[in-house]
Amino acid sequence: MTNKLQGRVAIVTGASSGNGRAIALALAAQGASILCSDLKPTALAGGYEVDIDTPTHEAIRKSGGKAEYFQADASKTQDVERLVANCVSAYGRLDIMVNNAGVFTGLHNILDETEDQYDFTMNVNAKGVWLGSKYAIKQMVTQEPVEGGGRGRIINIASIGGLVGLALEPAYCASKGAVVNLTRQLAIDFAPQLINVNAVCPGFLATAMVRSFLEDKDTKDALESLTPWPRLGTPEDVAKAVTFLASDDSAWITGSNLTVDGAFTAR
Ligand SMILES: NC(=O)c1ccc[n+]([C@@H]2O[C@H](COP(=O)([O-])OP(=O)(O)OC[C@H]3O[C@@H](n4cnc5c(N)ncnc54)[C@H](O)[C@@H]3O)[C@@H](O)[C@H]2O)c1
Repeated sequence: MTNKLQGRVAIVTGASSGNGRAIALALAAQGASILCSDLKPTALAGGYEVDIDTPTHEAIRKSGGKAEYFQADASKTQDVERLVANCVSAYGRLDIMVNNAGVFTGLHNILDETEDQYDFTMNVNAKGVWLGSKYAIKQMVTQEPVEGGGRGRIINIASIGGLVGLALEPAYCASKGAVVNLTRQLAIDFAPQLINVNAVCPGFLATAMVRSFLEDKDTKDALESLTPWPRLGTPEDVAKAVTFLASDDSAWITGSNLTVDGAFTAR
């Protein structure tokens, strides 16, 4: 365990599975205390986590880190407000808010996508990030800046689908496009208060969310051929980028949407 984030406090939404779990583990490995938040503490059944039966907060504690679990629906105002309040009462402050919780309802064009699928996707992926940012920033502006850093850091998990169109993912791309530009907008409003707001835009990674893609040989081959780097990404690739954006090494980086995609969007 190293200590780039020693004494810092982080919330990770969607922390029970996939990217959120890898992010929570990576921030904890750098010394941060983590409030792991999700709809339930156990990972989604379709995930690739090696220790899938151990909830994230327990895995962190087993490695000697500090973590708690707090149940919250990232798309519900009261839940998010309570999540931040609980963090402050447990740890005294909130340094790092990772808005990671997200959903994907499968491949279909707009003619086949239902209004319910659109509302569900936008509520979790776009409104959830808006809510997480709102209540985190409300707390962060009341805090004194930390030595060598600022008042707090927001890190949103967007997607390459927020930067380019992905076939058959209309609502998902719309929701991630909203996250990408909300990230830039908030960075401008809260730079004077020393609050960094950045996003990570991952390419395709092996998590429960995309298991159906990876199990279908043609789809997997297509994803691999669209990704110039000779392998697909992992949640750990995303977690390393988030750890950098959470640390004082990125003190003057704000308003950025960092691709972690093996050059998928570089073409
Ligand atoms: N897997 C990929 O290829 C990929 C690529 C780009 C971006 N992303 C993004 O990464 C983030 C994490 O996705 P993942 O791949 O780890 O997916 P996942 O499905 O493996 O995990 C998502 C987690 O979020 C939780 N969650 C869902 N709705 C929630 C809600 N309303 N409130 C709280 N928690 C909720 C789930 O319970 C689950 O634990 C998402 O924002 C996703 O869009 C994933």
